[in-house]
Amino acid sequence: MTGLYPATRLRRTRSTAWSRALFRETMVTPADLIWPLFITDGSGVEQPIASLPGVSRWSVDGIVARAREAVALGIPVVALFPYTQAERRSADGKEALNPDNLMCRAIAAVKQACGDELGVLTDVALDPYTDHGQDGLVDNSGYVVNDATVEVLVGQSLNQARAGADIIAPSDMMDGRIGAIRDALEGTGYANVQIMAYAAKYASAFYGPFRDAVGSSGLLKGDKKTYQMDPANTEEALREIEQDLGQGADSVMVKPGLPYLDIVRRVKDTFAVPVFAYQVSGEYAMIEAAAEAGVGERDALVLETLLAFKRAGCSGVLTYHAAHAARLLGG
Ligand code: PBG
Repeated sequence: MTGLYPATRLRRTRSTAWSRALFRETMVTPADLIWPLFITDGSGVEQPIASLPGVSRWSVDGIVARAREAVALGIPVVALFPYTQAERRSADGKEALNPDNLMCRAIAAVKQACGDELGVLTDVALDPYTDHGQDGLVDNSGYVVNDATVEVLVGQSLNQARAGADIIAPSDMMDGRIGAIRDALEGTGYANVQIMAYAAKYASAFYGPFRDAVGSSGLLKGDKKTYQMDPANTEEALREIEQDLGQGADSVMVKPGLPYLDIVRRVKDTFAVPVFAYQVSGEYAMIEAAAEAGVGERDALVLETLLAFKRAGCSGVLTYHAAHAARLLGG
């Protein structure tokens, strides 16, 4: 309900900093942030990623240092992604099932260092491990097969849970994988391991730098449109979310982030569940490029975009700017 001018002047409450603070509806804190980190082999290694300026791959010791930094900054969760050596990639992605793979070693090291002070979220999909760069198993025609892929994803999830993962985050977009993973976790003593479903994940042009970071961009032929969603669709996103919730997802994710805030809002209004968004690599790179080109101010762009996610209904945001933002927010 709002009155007529001049009895009501909406600028009145905006006229001073104290008043703007008092009337502010939405807040971002470091506790809203999930920090994605890229792992590489070796020790003492930092490899900057050219297409993600300011982001590096770290060897496990460096990942542990970033994890401690996250705790110090008040960031509750890190998300881990491995860069797998070429000789460990194969058509069937079986390195995903190796209990001693880079991912598992990093999970264990972070849990050892930070315990319950930090959650570890792990991506479930085969693209860091396949020599064709697809998220699943492919048949002779190149089609990514669903049910056989789900079986491998279940094994990958259990492998990560055994290493200490707190949140399993399937990003593969196969049908039925959430239920299969939930059953397997329940059946093996991991009932409290959460699932954050990449439930509405679109076949997006914004993932390019990520594929450089995990080393799949040179391998991938074609696209992921037979499993990731058509950017034109909203109703289908709601069906994806409903299915994943029904199969046992504790929270759902919309991805990419900023161009899909309408989806976040509809999911939140429809299901009233915890919704997260992934401000993906191409979005990060665009902000960095804008700042570099002098057409925008980095810190302001970062904070404004994070606020937009919260305003749209997100419980939290996966962002490569997490540590920087947490520092700006005084964490
Ligand atoms: C892999 C995966 C992707 C991202 C997260 N997990 C890329 C893809 O689906 O090709 C993208 C994240 C980003 O761009 O920052 N399944």
